[in-house]
Amino acid sequence: MNFLDDYVGVLGAAYLWVKAAHVTFVIFWIAGLFIVPRYYIHHQATTPGSAEDRAWIEREDRARTIILMPAMLISWTLGLMLAVHLGAFDQPWLMAKLALVVLLSAYQGWIVTYGRKLAAGRRELEDKKLRLMNEVPGILTALIVVLVIVRPF
Ligand code: HEM
Repeated sequence: MNFLDDYVGVLGAAYLWVKAAHVTFVIFWIAGLFIVPRYYIHHQATTPGSAEDRAWIEREDRARTIILMPAMLISWTLGLMLAVHLGAFDQPWLMAKLALVVLLSAYQGWIVTYGRKLAAGRRELEDKKLRLMNEVPGILTALIVVLVIVRPF
């Protein structure tokens, strides 16, 4: 038994299904956040205008439009539905989680911008800095999962 056993909420019996879908789309989203900046490291090594350069541009474009954007929007929608269902907007763990998810979404904004620069033939960051940027989603994901599972506050 736990406090949610008799709780119906706005989602009713669909609650656990929505939660399962949320976690699934979050996995798709984070997978995209890991893979696209990895692509950039390989892409940077190509000569602008070469066939290889064009192949990376297309690959990145597909990953952004088929994986990143839909997975981010669906994760947000389902996550907010869960928050409404639980009436959790007064919970500090959720506020902290939302702040980190906003940072994760901003990171995706950086991915889109940097991709446009690469497609225009600009290679602004040294490989070392790009590799450092690659660590951001892993760190944010670990913190978010601790907040939602451990709920330390
Ligand atoms: C995009 C905006 C997001 C919102 C609004 C949101 C909100 C929520 C809420 C309210 C819950 C329900 C907790 C419960 O039922 O006990 C939940 C579950 C969960 N969220 Fe999110 N979330 C978001 C993104 C993320 C991200 C980016 C991750 C991982 C990096 C994540 C991982 C999880 C996990 C693992 C659960 C299941 C926790 C459990 O089993 O109790 N969420 N989310």
